[in-house]
Amino acid sequence: MSEIESVSAVEILDSRGRPTLLAFCRLADGTLGQASVPSGASTGAAEALELRDGDPRRHGGSGCLKAVSKIKREINDAVARREFASQADLDRFLVELDGSANKASLGANAILGVSLAFCRAQAARRKAPLYAHLARMAGVAPRLPQPMINLFSGGAHAGGQVAIQDVQIAVRNAQTISRVLEVASDVFRAAAALIAERYGERLLTADEGGLAPAFESSEAMLGAAVAAIESAGFHPGEDVALTVDVAASQFHSDGRYHVDGATLDRERMVEQIATWTRRYPLISVEDGLDEADWSGWRLLHERLGANTMILGDDFLCTNPARIQRAIHSSAANSLLLKVNQIGTLTEALEALRLARKAGWKVVVSARSGETEDDWLADLAAGWAGDFIKVGSITQSERLAKYNRLLYLEEMDGLTPRD
Ligand code: PGA
Ligand code: ZN
Repeated sequence: MSEIESVSAVEILDSRGRPTLLAFCRLADGTLGQASVPSGASTGAAEALELRDGDPRRHGGSGCLKAVSKIKREINDAVARREFASQADLDRFLVELDGSANKASLGANAILGVSLAFCRAQAARRKAPLYAHLARMAGVAPRLPQPMINLFSGGAHAGGQVAIQDVQIAVRNAQTISRVLEVASDVFRAAAALIAERYGERLLTADEGGLAPAFESSEAMLGAAVAAIESAGFHPGEDVALTVDVAASQFHSDGRYHVDGATLDRERMVEQIATWTRRYPLISVEDGLDEADWSGWRLLHERLGANTMILGDDFLCTNPARIQRAIHSSAANSLLLKVNQIGTLTEALEALRLARKAGWKVVVSARSGETEDDWLADLAAGWAGDFIKVGSITQSERLAKYNRLLYLEEMDGLTPRD
């Protein structure tokens, strides 16, 4: 049992210079927890609703003062001087207080801020590191996740010059996070040199810090990643594998996929992805099909699911009901877990449990709009994610998470997955 004294929040800016919020939760014994909330650009239609002011006079309408005020008034009035038995107890209370199906009344950003700040306060009260508190909550043994590190960006994160949104690297057989980052840095530098040579471009980076030259096609993007791995002295596939976020909903309209100048139906889109996986060392394909194309997902999973992670981001939206349906219809085999897609830690934990029960892999993910907060690293380690997806190694809102993993490795003796 622990009593909340008060909750509060302040509007801050994220890595895109857009407003988000930093929430505070003070317990009756004086313990303070705080957490900031990330925000996506290529959002799924089934995501919980992020409350924005819509006032064009501030931040082009994207202000978060309404969400801040929801925390300071409605939520604070309801939770202050009230006892909560657990995280689940508070989260259930917040969901009921909101009362809508998609958290539209209080805002998923306001609700998640309070959910996370309460979690941090509970960890501090128990004098436990955040990851250990989260692991205890989930009933799992904490472990360091394997990073999927962004190399190249396209789609909505880089002006849409090429269809695929992210090409990432996954370092194989590395014993430590520190070694993973070392290899990633070598590959990133090789990629930057290659881009300078082929496209005459300086190191200009996209939302998640990835390189974003005007690739002529998705295939060119994948080819450049392999070339960068080789030029850094590693074996593609063996030492460094690739993962992609196709983010197909972004280029799907009228039942067709508009990719690299071609218009494909779902069968040909699946064929296209199968070709990519044959030609390049891809171990994971995220959002290969549109978020509403359930038949396409089943087709892709049937075709490639035995050897490739068929990873649902916008498709699943960390939503237990959608995950359940995807399990039953055999439409995916991996979950991208983003807590702000669903709005509370407890619902995200339910999503994790469903995925684990089905034998799925889990990727704990940041958003393209991030802050310097590092709770995501603790979440990925505490909930024993197979992977963590944070972006590239060039921007501090990303590095805050990688650097926290390094801390957990050194100071808490956590080890990566094999
Ligand atoms: P988002 O992108 O945060 O803009 O949704 C991340 C992703 O698609 O994985
Ligand atoms: Zn995605």
